[in-house]
Amino acid sequence: MDLYNFRLPLLFLAAFGCCCDGSPLLDEETNGVIGKHVTFKTTVISMNFLTVSWSFDGAVTTTLPILTNLPLANKTNIDDRYKNRVTYNATTCELELRNLVKEDSGEYVLTIVTGEGSQLIGKVILNVLEPVTDVKISSNLPDPVEIHSTVVLTCSAKGSFTYKWVNGSIPVVADGTHIMLMGKELTVSKVWRTDLRGPIFCIAENALESGKSPAFNLTVSYGPENIVMSQTPVAPFLKEGSNVTFTCSAISDPPAQLQWMFNGVEVSKQANLTITKLEGINSGNYTCLASNANTKHSIASQVSTISVVEPLSGTNISSPSEPLIAGISPVNLTCTVAAGKADRVDWFKDGKPLATSARVTLSSDMRTSSFVKVEKEDAGVYKCQMKNNVNTDEASYTMVINYGPADAIVTGKKAVKFEEPIEMSCLGESVPPSTYAWKLNDSTIVNATREKYTVEKASLKDAGTYTCVARNPLTGLTFSKTHKLEVTELGTVDSGLSGGAIAGIVIGVLVAAIIIACCFCCRKKQTDVPSPY
Ligand SMILES: *[C@@H]1O[C@H](CO)[C@@H](O)[C@H](O)[C@H]1NC(C)=O
Ligand SMILES: *[C@@H]1O[C@H](CO)[C@@H](O)[C@H](O)[C@H]1NC(C)=O
Ligand SMILES: *[C@@H]1O[C@H](CO)[C@@H](O)[C@H](O)[C@H]1NC(C)=O
Ligand SMILES: *[C@@H]1O[C@H](CO)[C@@H](O)[C@H](O)[C@H]1NC(C)=O
Ligand SMILES: *[C@@H]1O[C@H](CO)[C@@H](O)[C@H](O)[C@H]1NC(C)=O
Ligand SMILES: *[C@@H]1O[C@H](CO)[C@@H](O)[C@H](O)[C@H]1NC(C)=O
Ligand SMILES: *[C@@H]1O[C@H](CO)[C@@H](O)[C@H](O)[C@H]1NC(C)=O
Ligand SMILES: *[C@@H]1O[C@H](CO)[C@@H](O)[C@H](O)[C@H]1NC(C)=O
Ligand SMILES: *[C@@H]1O[C@H](CO)[C@@H](O)[C@H](O)[C@H]1NC(C)=O
Ligand SMILES: *[C@@H]1O[C@H](CO)[C@@H](O)[C@H](O)[C@H]1NC(C)=O
Ligand SMILES: *[C@@H]1O[C@H](CO)[C@@H](O)[C@H](O)[C@H]1NC(C)=O
Repeated sequence: MDLYNFRLPLLFLAAFGCCCDGSPLLDEETNGVIGKHVTFKTTVISMNFLTVSWSFDGAVTTTLPILTNLPLANKTNIDDRYKNRVTYNATTCELELRNLVKEDSGEYVLTIVTGEGSQLIGKVILNVLEPVTDVKISSNLPDPVEIHSTVVLTCSAKGSFTYKWVNGSIPVVADGTHIMLMGKELTVSKVWRTDLRGPIFCIAENALESGKSPAFNLTVSYGPENIVMSQTPVAPFLKEGSNVTFTCSAISDPPAQLQWMFNGVEVSKQANLTITKLEGINSGNYTCLASNANTKHSIASQVSTISVVEPLSGTNISSPSEPLIAGISPVNLTCTVAAGKADRVDWFKDGKPLATSARVTLSSDMRTSSFVKVEKEDAGVYKCQMKNNVNTDEASYTMVINYGPADAIVTGKKAVKFEEPIEMSCLGESVPPSTYAWKLNDSTIVNATREKYTVEKASLKDAGTYTCVARNPLTGLTFSKTHKLEVTELGTVDSGLSGGAIAGIVIGVLVAAIIIACCFCCRKKQTDVPSPY
């Protein structure tokens, strides 16, 4: 207290400008943090001072002495209030103040009276700041929705501060429209899904300290979008009994809730829909719906329309029971299918599309081909091909036309020499093959039933008119053709008349002729005798 009273005369001296080569203090203002310590630095170099004193001018209190030092007496008096809280360096006149409290804020005055009696006064303002703790980020929205939401992040911390925002490791830059920074708030308007994945940090700072918030990220809900639906197999027409799988996916956060609609009615909540053993009732429209409960948004995929079709099987051609005879038989070939419905029927004959004509017609439903009268050229392999959207089935029928015999001719020599072989053939078209019979001068030749007639050695009795009779065993129709054969020149051996016999006959004839001639002469003589009557 006594020392304190020195102050007035010291001030008085100062007013006289005895000192005033500047403040002995380094700073005019300094900061401290509650609980921490601060040292008021001086520019003083050790000198012989009479007195050194530190005092405090708080906001609420009046001026309070802290300590007075009498260097010559090697004596320092510390005010009771500051005992244990201050450390004084007698060499530099620096004062350290520990365990700072908010109330320590204020003006600190260093007053030095030099050995020469001049006075040095320095003043420094101490700001006692709160420590930076509990730096946190909070969001105005827990579940923001992309584009729809404006997210305001607020940084909170204990202390007195300025704020900085960091996105990952890069400071957040405000662009004035999408991202705005104001005080402790970071505002992201029409937030995008990637905006707050940083992670975002808030750094709260005061003049002495800074504190960083824990990493903060915010999931921005979005979607569903880009819905993709696929069908396997991709065909619009599927065979009855086969399987089909539909898959669906969409981009969404949180993941989209998927559902399958069949003709507008929900049938599944799975991402994939598999239908096994397809039936007709499975035909229809399939659509996938994706929805996001957070964004309250749903979208539908394109529609997949399938038709389940029974495959064709058991195609058959009704074949006529009676044999077909050219020029006579009418016939209908009818194509039927045991299972499935055909959309198209095609007829082929010998691999080529069946040509229709006045004689060969197709019914309007294409199932029946009608032949008014079959002809031999109608013979062949007929194929009926049935088609629908899932398969093709076919049947074939081989048509046999019975005809003939027609246009038979007999080939062979017109004359053969005695004892030469005879060979004759009867040629004529016929289905089934004809049977043959041969006649000579209208009498049937025994055992001549082939199309060829042969005799090893011709004799005179083989001459005459031959007739070949061809007969179709199925139709019973016959056709005959004649052929004249002469046997010329006499041979030496004949089972009927030997050469000697022939010579005998010739001689006999000559003798007879002479006798007849003689008799004729005698009769003439008798006739010349006059009659007695
Ligand atoms: C001043 O006093 C302290 C103890 O109070 C002593 O340690 C120191 O040596 C003294 N200094 C001088 C210069 O007498
Ligand atoms: C006083 O300060 C000076 C210079 O910083 C230093 O060398 C000295 O040790 C200090 N004295 C005490 C008692 O702390
Ligand atoms: C953070 O960085 C990402 C990636 O560079 C960016 O897409 C996003 O918009 C940024 N967010 C903010 C709030 O700046
Ligand atoms: C974002 O936060 C969630 C939990 O809140 C965490 O699972 C995820 O790993 C974080 N992501 C990043 C990039 O920090
Ligand atoms: C259809 O699915 C069933 C059951 O999964 C399976 O046994 C069958 O082989 C599948 N059929 C085809 C044609 O893939
Ligand atoms: C399927 O969709 C088509 C066109 O999109 C529509 O014409 C048809 O009536 C739908 N079928 C059913 C069974 O809903
Ligand atoms: C759906 O099917 C796709 C393709 O076959 C497959 O990759 C995916 O894992 C399936 N999803 C589910 C949920 O079974
Ligand atoms: C086709 O029909 C005929 C009778 O017209 C029948 O005899 C035959 O067995 C059938 N073939 C098949 C494969 O059904
Ligand atoms: C062929 O079909 C037509 C029409 O059905 C019928 O009038 C005709 O008698 C049938 N002919 C034969 C040989 O079945
Ligand atoms: C006709 O042929 C039969 C059997 O081949 C035979 O028994 C018969 O004697 C033959 N007749 C004549 C006249 O050759
Ligand atoms: C068949 O008739 C011809 C002429 O009419 C005759 O020359 C021939 O001898 C006769 N053949 C037989 C074996 O009767």
